Amino acid sequence: MKRTAISIVAALLTSLSAQAQVNPMVLSENHAMVRLETGCKYVLLPVEEKAENANIRIIGMENQSTRRPNVRLAVDNVDYYVPLEIKDGQLLDIIFHGDRRTTGNMKGFACWKEMKFSDTFDTTNREKFRPAYHHTPQYGWMNDPNGMFYKDGEWHLYYQYNPYGSLWENMTWGHSVSKDLVHWEALPLAIEADALGTIFSGSCVVDKDNTAGFGKNAVIAFYTSAGEAQTQSMAYSTDGGRTFNKYGKNPVVTFNAPDFRDPKVFWYDGTNRWIMMLAVGQEMQIWSSANLKDWQKESSFGSEYGNHGGVWECPDLLKIEDKWVLICNINPGGPFGGSATQYFVGDFDGHKFTCESMPKVTKWLDYGKDHYATVSFSNAPDGRTVVLAWMSNWQYANQVPTRQFRSANSIARDLGLFKDGEETYVSVIPSKETLAMRGKKIKNPTDACEIVVDVKGSMELILSNTKGEQVVMKYDAQKQTFAMNRKQSGDISFSEAFPIETTAPTHGALKQLRLFIDHSSIEAFASDGKMAMTNLVFPNEPYNTLKVKGGKATIYEIK
Ligand code: FRU
Repeated sequence: MKRTAISIVAALLTSLSAQAQVNPMVLSENHAMVRLETGCKYVLLPVEEKAENANIRIIGMENQSTRRPNVRLAVDNVDYYVPLEIKDGQLLDIIFHGDRRTTGNMKGFACWKEMKFSDTFDTTNREKFRPAYHHTPQYGWMNDPNGMFYKDGEWHLYYQYNPYGSLWENMTWGHSVSKDLVHWEALPLAIEADALGTIFSGSCVVDKDNTAGFGKNAVIAFYTSAGEAQTQSMAYSTDGGRTFNKYGKNPVVTFNAPDFRDPKVFWYDGTNRWIMMLAVGQEMQIWSSANLKDWQKESSFGSEYGNHGGVWECPDLLKIEDKWVLICNINPGGPFGGSATQYFVGDFDGHKFTCESMPKVTKWLDYGKDHYATVSFSNAPDGRTVVLAWMSNWQYANQVPTRQFRSANSIARDLGLFKDGEETYVSVIPSKETLAMRGKKIKNPTDACEIVVDVKGSMELILSNTKGEQVVMKYDAQKQTFAMNRKQSGDISFSEAFPIETTAPTHGALKQLRLFIDHSSIEAFASDGKMAMTNLVFPNEPYNTLKVKGGKATIYEIK
């Protein structure tokens, strides 16, 4: 109710925004300048996704430039607007990368006519595929979860974010915070690009003992500065992660390799040192430090282990029960094409990770197609290992049929361990916080619900809508496999890699299945944690019919 009232006020304010025919100073076929003298907080830039990027330099009153985002300024039609915060008198220096033969005369571009100026920006949801209980950015593009930590009752989630369009570009750290891992509040941008580069993935730690000298309990962020090279930088926050100052002596870690990124830092008691995990080509490097500023390389892991179908990215190293688990996101190379999360189980002595499996053994954390960049929250309470993934796949993430925003995170999951034969595997269960959102029982599925299925032997489950779109799930008791088929799930037209059936081993009999449905995603979990599968779906109408053979389903609404 409250949300609607706020949205109406926001919409009214936006409709008051001035639409001024902008008269650009044309300097060449692809170069123009616009002086901003409107007194408004934002210029609302008209975006057309199929247009080429235009590079916009924002030049201040002292003629200095700090930001230079790439924006797909509208040439023919406007798909949506993005707000660019400005100060009166600033100059936009714009270079179009399009080719004049295809775009025509720059003076006639739609962006000049459609540019608006406003003190507000309406973020009211206008997307039918926007999840209700998964984290999404209010607008713009999102990929990996970054810098997650827990402190003083709050879960902080930063994320790879393009605030100037819903396609990958202009990486910054967006920021949201939650008290329950389900409801997220959007906060201002946390870390923005600088002369060292755009801001790629990384992590945060809470420096309880002030080892870095920024203060007791300072929150320290590590991220990759993606410039001419990839180097590791740090920033610190003394207000619990709300705002960050960049460290003056960045970068703090450098190495001679083109792919060198995604620092994940944690404290290791055994040596009394900080450890930084880094993804380097197709291996993971381990570095250490006493003060978070001076780092030394300890070792590398992985050249002969697991899957090498693509680049290794976004590492994590976790102590779970009596084992160490090295998380390795890989793209491409996933079991069903594109991106996925593999992991290794073994030991860590503060210097080196040793995998306990044979080199050829590959273990996947989730057997769906839309589960990537999984990393854990640092400083989580009660010794828990809580992780989030990015719910998409690089094969089609930029093409999925949403516009106002692109991509959501998975629901939060707690990791543990289980054994099957000689091998130890990582178990995945929905974090306990998801139980609190379970509402009353309902008869039919809706676009945001949880379904619990007690399984008896082999089972078939069909979710469908009146348009005949359906998702078919099958448990084969003999083979002990669970499969989800989305070949007729709705809009599958945007990528040939999308229509697919994914299959997972259940490591024993599947007794109970938990399904989380949220507008455009289905997450399936074996209740014992031995199977997880995350897949996107884009039904033209919500699935409202459920048929189950070989099991008994209970459907819950989401509160
Ligand atoms: C993984 C990744 C990271 C990188 C980031 C850039 O999805 O490629 O390796 O830091 O995305 O946005």
